[in-house]
Amino acid sequence: MAYIIGILSTKGGVGKSSIARALAVAISSSGYRVRLCDLDIAQTTTVDWYKRRLQNGGDTLASVEMFRTVDDALKNTVDLQPSFDAIILDMPGRSSVETYKLAHAANLIIQPTSGTLDDLVPAVRLYHELKAKGIPYEKMAFTLNRITTEAEAAQALEYIRRTGYDVLDGILQDKAGYKMAQNIGRTLQETNYSTLNEAAEELLGSIINRLTGNR
Ligand SMILES: Nc1ncnc2c1ncn2[C@@H]1O[C@H](COP(=O)(O)OP(=O)(O)OP(=O)(O)O)[C@@H](O)[C@H]1O
Ligand SMILES: [Mg+2]
Repeated sequence: MAYIIGILSTKGGVGKSSIARALAVAISSSGYRVRLCDLDIAQTTTVDWYKRRLQNGGDTLASVEMFRTVDDALKNTVDLQPSFDAIILDMPGRSSVETYKLAHAANLIIQPTSGTLDDLVPAVRLYHELKAKGIPYEKMAFTLNRITTEAEAAQALEYIRRTGYDVLDGILQDKAGYKMAQNIGRTLQETNYSTLNEAAEELLGSIINRLTGNR
C-alpha cells in the first residue's frame, strides 16, 4: 500500500504547495515512486510548477496530476497503489468536507503555519476539529514555514507544544532564495544557498523517516 501524505491548511499562502513538491522530489530521490496530486484546480500551482521544472531540465517525477476531489485522487490511484510507494496530496487553502476525507484516508497530514497568531490559532483549531471527528493525534503534524526571526520560531514552538501536537524538525525561514528556486521549477532543498537547503532537508528527512518507519 502507498503511504498517503496530505498537505493542508485553512489558510492560503502558508507553503502547502511548496512543501508538497519538495517532499515529492525528496521521496523520489530516496528511491521511492511518488504520485503528486494537485487538488487546487482553481490555481493549478503544482502542475504549473512541474511544467517549469521540466522546461528548466529538472529531474522528473513518476506522476504529477490534477484531481478535483480527494475521492478522485485516491480512487484513481487505488489500482495503481502497488506501483506507488507514496501519494502526496496538495490541498487548496480552505477547510471543507474534503479536508476530513483526506485526514481520514492519509497516513500523515502536515499543516504548514507561520508563527503569527493569525495563522496559529486557526491551524490549531482545524486539528482540534479533526481530532473531535476521530482523527488520531499521531497522524497530525505542524511544520513551521515563512518564519522571520528566532523569537517568532520560539514563540510558535511554545504555542504548539502547549496544544500537544507534533512539530516536525526543520524550521523554514521566509527567504527570497526559496522563491527564486521555485520560480525555475526547483524545490525548497534545491536553492542556491546551502543553509536554506539544509533546513529543508532536515524537514523532509523527518517526514521520510516516518514513511520508512511505516514500511
Ligand atoms: N519559506 C519561504 N520563504 C519565502 N517564500 C516562500 C516560502 N515558502 C513559500 N513561499 C512562497 O510563498 C508563496 C505561497 O507559497 P505556497 O504556494 O507554497 O503556499 P500555499 O499554502 O500552497 O498557498 P495556497 O493556499 O494559495 O495554495 C509562494 O509564492 C511561495 O513561493
Ligand atoms: Mg497551494
